[in-house]
Amino acid sequence: MDYLPRRRPRRLRRNPLIRDLVAETRLSTDGLIQPYFVGEDSIGKSEISSMPGIYRESADKLVASVGADLKLGIKRIMLFGVTHQKSANAESAFSESNPVVRAVEKLRQEFGETLFISADVCLCAYTESGHCGVLDGDEIDNDRSLPILAQMALRLAQAGVDWVAPSDMMDGRIGAIRETLDRAGLSRTGILAYTAKYASSYYGPFREAADSAPQKGDRKSYQMDWRNRREARVEAQLDIDEGADVVMVKPALAYLDVIHDLAISVDVPVSAYNVSGEYTMVKLAVRDGLATERDLVLENLTAITRAGASIILTYHLRDILKGKWL
Ligand code: PBG
Ligand code: ZN
Repeated sequence: MDYLPRRRPRRLRRNPLIRDLVAETRLSTDGLIQPYFVGEDSIGKSEISSMPGIYRESADKLVASVGADLKLGIKRIMLFGVTHQKSANAESAFSESNPVVRAVEKLRQEFGETLFISADVCLCAYTESGHCGVLDGDEIDNDRSLPILAQMALRLAQAGVDWVAPSDMMDGRIGAIRETLDRAGLSRTGILAYTAKYASSYYGPFREAADSAPQKGDRKSYQMDWRNRREARVEAQLDIDEGADVVMVKPALAYLDVIHDLAISVDVPVSAYNVSGEYTMVKLAVRDGLATERDLVLENLTAITRAGASIILTYHLRDILKGKWL
């Protein structure tokens, strides 16, 4: 006896033209941001051993790299600083010697408004302790960290970034930064808040790249506990109240539920950070022949988009454009 199914979902999967027509999620490079690591002049340009295809470079080298990437189609970037100048109070974070400040000035001179520039705001690459705030004994001094973060954001804004992106997870930092920028007449500078940033094992390769691992202890007293989901909504409310233009969830792939929660509960754009460990896992799987890079990368980025992120920071962007994957 033959059974004839009345409903046949496979009809909409019959060929690529139909599949593309009914696709519910469409990825675009317009929503993707490429991160870069910028350091002192003496470092030249060298590949980060745990992140194939990603480099640490001096401001001069960065201008050349960004120029080549712009031709490829990378129009939106995020900068991270790497420095040997570390101190208890992270003075180098907001001084002229901050390599990111100098890089932003050069990039603006060279590329004007054809390039969207954002920069990370955090103290961990600039403190001796490797912590994201300054210390009082063994404890993070939240409130004494705020003016330092605000000064760092101000220097970056004066240098010409479009957005500052505070990733420190101190309480009240968005408000401190917004007020400092506004008082300085920089109301046009946006704030991309690392809102739900979890204390994650997926940051390992980044900490090598930015030389920013904590010397002692961990980041669990300021970054979120990965057992918590609702708490992300509290962080989002606070960041938005304090003036965040965009909220972010980080990492992305293990936190799709959190991305979705924010996408349905807030009215500002939701972004996600496809972090270093997620990137390196893909690279290792591909190197070992376990997956096709294009398919794996597009599956991951589509999942993050499907969960509700309209902006994704991803180290894969250059490969996507080189391979014409999108
Ligand atoms: C600094 C910072 C980190 C990342 C972005 N900004 C590392 C950390 O918190 O230790 C991680 C990004 C990545 O892993 O790609 N606060
Ligand atoms: Zn940090």
